[in-house]
Amino acid sequence: MCRPTHFDVTYSINPWMDPGRPTSAEAGLGQWKRLHDVFVGLGHEVELIDPVPGLPDMVFAANGATVVDGKVLVARFRHPQRTDEAQAYLDWFGRGDWSEVRQAEYVNEGEGDFLFTGEEILAGTGFRSDRRAHDEAREFFGRPVVSLTLVDPRWYHLDTALAVLGDGHVMYYPPAFSAQSRALLAERFPDAVLADEADAAVFGLNALSDGRNVVLPRQAVGLAAHLRERGYTPVGADLTEMLKAGGSVKCCTLELRTR
Ligand code: ARG
Repeated sequence: MCRPTHFDVTYSINPWMDPGRPTSAEAGLGQWKRLHDVFVGLGHEVELIDPVPGLPDMVFAANGATVVDGKVLVARFRHPQRTDEAQAYLDWFGRGDWSEVRQAEYVNEGEGDFLFTGEEILAGTGFRSDRRAHDEAREFFGRPVVSLTLVDPRWYHLDTALAVLGDGHVMYYPPAFSAQSRALLAERFPDAVLADEADAAVFGLNALSDGRNVVLPRQAVGLAAHLRERGYTPVGADLTEMLKAGGSVKCCTLELRTR
């Protein structure tokens, strides 16, 4: 995770970002700290990367890299406003004990568009990650990669429209995907939890599951009820400040999967 010390909305690279709308650094930091404490309370070990001045979106650690089987593919950002974040992740992972650390050749925004199911990687494209990045990830990780196309700019990263719950289960918002991707998802995940627009619009799918507890935006009440019915424990978190930049729970969290 990355403390939102320099968090602000100073540019707009997705439809949620309006630089004219005020943000509160203090409220943002409080919300982030509570999310951090929720993870710690659930028994997760949380590591921090230092925020860099001038990179207000760095709080969205999910975008920095993808880490599977102890191998690290560092992101290559689409927009110049975020390009320099990649170096911070290269440095951070370079100091650690990872079997391989490499920056991607093609544009990919880390776990924003790459979600690991435990077996394969679900990979988003359409707005941010280059389609060729999917082949690059397949080669780098040696895991199957399933390409999914996003079609609505409000759900511009895969992790805003789909979350892995564990055990081969996912939840997603069908209208965020192309017809072809929707058919693929329906076939692959016949008993997925489907979100409605209201829950998707509060970023209810920008969630993190440990297979039992699902941390998600507190406002996604419909999804929370569906999750409870399926035997999961929804844990609500308030990240309304981060939503002003188009991010929430999952965006703030990069999962470190050792071998
Ligand atoms: N303002 C950031 C951007 O548009 C938000 C990133 C959200 N991160 C995510 N994993 N979806 O790049």
